[in-house]
Amino acid sequence: MIEIKNLFKQYKEVLALNNFNLTVEYGEIYGLVGPNGSGKTTSINCMLSLLKYDKGEVYLFGKKMSDSRSDLKAKIGYIPQDISVIYDLNVYDNIDFFCGLYISDKATRKKYVEEAIEFAGLNEFRKFLPAKLSGGLRRRLNIACGIAHKPELIIFDEPTVAVDPQSRNKILEGIKELNRNGATIIYTSHYMEEVEYLSTKISIIDKGQILVSGTTKELKNFVGLGNSLEVNNIDLSNGLENSLRAINGVNKLLKTSNNLKIIVDNDMVISNIINHLNQNNIIYDSLNIKTPTLNDVFLDITGRELRDNA
Ligand SMILES: Nc1ncnc2c1ncn2[C@@H]1O[C@H](COP(=O)(O)OP(=O)(O)O)[C@@H](O)[C@H]1O
Ligand SMILES: [Mg+2]
Repeated sequence: MIEIKNLFKQYKEVLALNNFNLTVEYGEIYGLVGPNGSGKTTSINCMLSLLKYDKGEVYLFGKKMSDSRSDLKAKIGYIPQDISVIYDLNVYDNIDFFCGLYISDKATRKKYVEEAIEFAGLNEFRKFLPAKLSGGLRRRLNIACGIAHKPELIIFDEPTVAVDPQSRNKILEGIKELNRNGATIIYTSHYMEEVEYLSTKISIIDKGQILVSGTTKELKNFVGLGNSLEVNNIDLSNGLENSLRAINGVNKLLKTSNNLKIIVDNDMVISNIINHLNQNNIIYDSLNIKTPTLNDVFLDITGRELRDNA
């Protein structure tokens, strides 16, 4: 559905895209994740021909994308990072306006607007002006405006920044629903947990370049981060540490006051550790298996926290 090749974009001082490449298949929820300023918004604006780029090629639906391809634009829904609704139109009229850019048949348009209102949970606010809505509801209006014409490709640029938890959940579930109904989704975020929850595939972007792409599992395998076993309130006397280190596949032991984190090469090792603890009657409060997060992946590749400047 999307093929971006060797894209370069220079703002005055900043090289915002530095050989950016991206391939997205039909039907994915594709997460584009990276810290603030990494080039997520720029890549989307270039992809949609909203912004001129210096070099590179963009293909959408197998066709070369350009500013004049209104046929392609009609199949795309874009929900920009900065809310872009019309402030002197009420909720209904906003959605109707944006839907009307693509859907001319009156009856169809009315049906689509109603469906978007229902989808975004805006029914009781249909007469409200945007300024009267809470941040979360305004974000949902922004989404309703972007999806009302039933686009095949929907792009969300940081749709959950500064929204309340209730709207956030509604937005995340809504994205899943749109995908179930057939839309391909691109989703940018600097919230790893969200991307991990939603995405079928992920690219990590930093300094205008894609560092790695894959499923969450593939990315974690890529950097060789295994699971770890966290043991709470464990009695470490009697040389336990040494005997744990001696277990095949135990990679590292990290100690905090009463807790022990045992990083392992693969999940098989975890059951060996648990057996070892039980056979030696070791006392502890609880065991937790921790999977590495995407943040750990980013840290491993760049040496920086994703949240550094988030
Ligand atoms: N209009 C602009 N003029 C100059 N620099 C810009 C402009 N827009 C973005 N940038 C810079 O380009 C880089 C990428 O920005 P952006 O694409 O907005 O990142 P992200 O969406 O990942 O936060 C940043 O360094 C940002 O400061
Ligand atoms: Mg952005």
